[in-house]
Amino acid sequence: MTPGPSPLAHAWAFDELSTAGPEHLDAGQVAAYDARAQFDPAPDIDVLRAPGLSRQDTVLDMGAGTGTFAVAAAPLCRQVLLVEPSRAMLDAAAEKLRAAALDNVRLIEGSFLSLQVAPPVEFIFCRNALHHLPDFWKVQALRRLRAALKPGGVLRLKDIAFSFAPAQTEASLSQWLEAAAHYPPGSYTADMLATHIREEFSTFTWLLEPMLERSGFCIEQAEYSSSGVFAAYICRAA
Ligand SMILES: C[S@@+](CC[C@H](N)C(=O)[O-])C[C@H]1O[C@@H](n2cnc3c(N)ncnc32)[C@H](O)[C@@H]1O
Repeated sequence: MTPGPSPLAHAWAFDELSTAGPEHLDAGQVAAYDARAQFDPAPDIDVLRAPGLSRQDTVLDMGAGTGTFAVAAAPLCRQVLLVEPSRAMLDAAAEKLRAAALDNVRLIEGSFLSLQVAPPVEFIFCRNALHHLPDFWKVQALRRLRAALKPGGVLRLKDIAFSFAPAQTEASLSQWLEAAAHYPPGSYTADMLATHIREEFSTFTWLLEPMLERSGFCIEQAEYSSSGVFAAYICRAA
């Protein structure tokens, strides 16, 4: 099950930084990330507590950004492995960890497709990062997340993923962009959402779910926003 190196892998290796989003690689833009994202980790902490997150467990935060979730999770577990490909994000996360005086978060410069974790961990959190990969590579990423989890371990996956029917595409995406006019100042604009749709790789939930299952996960819970553009999953490593 663990993805091993292929002798020809270098010939088809994917350049993850090429799709990581320029706004995540630039220190100036990263400085504005928290104000824009307005991410409250508390509900996700509760989601991990329900299946038993404890001081014995390790949590891997994949595509962790500025570390907002890691800072909230660290006091509740043994260790957080904070994995990020962006140096600017890692620097921002390091600053946040220093301010919170946390010493059980390990910063790892890494990515979905380079992930190798031993021993496997009990929990993985991954929010708004998987959409940076095209679908074929999402599956390769999910295989690596599965290999990084103990059997029975939990993956909390949240992302921009479309639960609407194909015929609803124009209406649903128009509503999403129109709603941005009511977002708080400094948050995402309609232009930014349009760039997301055009240049990133958010997929349909009904494509993502078989990808999860074929990569070795059982989906225990799937929630879709009423807008049809956000999805949240609790998955178990089969
Ligand atoms: C929208 S931010 C989300 C950050 C954080 N998870 C949060 O919820 O605030 C997306 C993050 O995914 C990271 N990312 C992009 N491509 C990635 C990849 N191939 N592997 C891992 N992380 C990636 C970016 O650097 C960025 O920090």
